[in-house]
Amino acid sequence: MSTIKRVGVLISGRGSNMASLIEACKQPGYPAEIAHVISNDPDAPGLKIASASNIPTTAIDHKGYKSRQAFEKDLDAALRKANIDLICNAGFMRLLTESFVEAWRDRQLNIHPSLLPAFKGLHTHERAIEAGVKLSGCTVHFVRTEMDSGPIVAQAAVPVLPADTPDDLAARVLEAEHKLYPIALKLVASDETRVENERVVLKSRPTVHGPYISPWIE
Ligand code: GRF
Repeated sequence: MSTIKRVGVLISGRGSNMASLIEACKQPGYPAEIAHVISNDPDAPGLKIASASNIPTTAIDHKGYKSRQAFEKDLDAALRKANIDLICNAGFMRLLTESFVEAWRDRQLNIHPSLLPAFKGLHTHERAIEAGVKLSGCTVHFVRTEMDSGPIVAQAAVPVLPADTPDDLAARVLEAEHKLYPIALKLVASDETRVENERVVLKSRPTVHGPYISPWIE
């Protein structure tokens, strides 16, 4: 039986995905616990949510550092001090250098609000609407140095409706994010996944190309 993985969540803001992971970890038998939450913004509302759940938090204000490397050195030290096994980026708005990414290779997840590799970066929902795509969604992937890239663990699709504003689409995608991230973390934390040729394979079900969910489409 695998042990319960200690997860460090990196945030920069609201923290609703972090909150969904905190809730998921309360399920009996869930293979992970949120052991520490770190924000690069000391005013991130998510820090208060974590504290209210009695989860230790640390603010490491990137503005106080001269270089990305110096910021990441302290970030890495805080994660190691908390004995973190896996990192979940959840609305974490800092780009990470190769040395940090490689130090946590295949042990760091990110969630992005699009069906990657489409619409990497910011203003995802505006761009999805502008492009006229009929489906959008979200992706949980292992982190690589290139922004919003890396082996895909799981995706969820939602429709883009004709009258959608970017905020409407963001809200629909966010609902899917809150379902998807706990599913993806559960798979990774229970050692169900393996990265092979930069693709995620489910160890016990290598022929299943999942998970994906599309709760809005019958
Ligand atoms: C989410 O849409 C996430 O996919 C993106 O930033 C947003 C963060 O929201 N990377 P929250 O802080 O988890 O509420």
